[in-house]
Amino acid sequence: MSSSLPPAATIRGHETLDTLFAIMVRAAHLGEWAMCHQAIEQFVAALDGHLSYEEESQFPAYAASSPGAAAEVQQLLEEHERIRGAVDSLTESFRGRELDLQGVGAVEVMLRDHDARESLRFHPWLMARQRGA
Ligand SMILES: [Fe+2]
Ligand SMILES: [Fe+2]
Repeated sequence: MSSSLPPAATIRGHETLDTLFAIMVRAAHLGEWAMCHQAIEQFVAALDGHLSYEEESQFPAYAASSPGAAAEVQQLLEEHERIRGAVDSLTESFRGRELDLQGVGAVEVMLRDHDARESLRFHPWLMARQRGA
């Protein structure tokens, strides 16, 4: 990803991830495993790009902005690791043509909760920084 990605693009990235996740899960529900496996590649690449971009290009500056933000970044980083682990486990099941409904639910909840947490303070900070506030 570009190092100059505008904040709105990273925020919209959550919608893209939700869409790719939904396509992957729907294909699994339908037993369309070739389509599911293609969707896995797209979802995993988009997820890795999003998480890595936040970790490398955005979180360090946000963490430096206040002690509260630094503590929040620690929590966000822990959530990133939990998301990666849950996605690894789920996609492993899908690659084995197994519809892991519990894994689907776990990833859905993690992504939703993480999105909500980033929306509270991190995203407003990104937008304010872009405006030069
Ligand atoms: Fe994010
Ligand atoms: Fe994140």
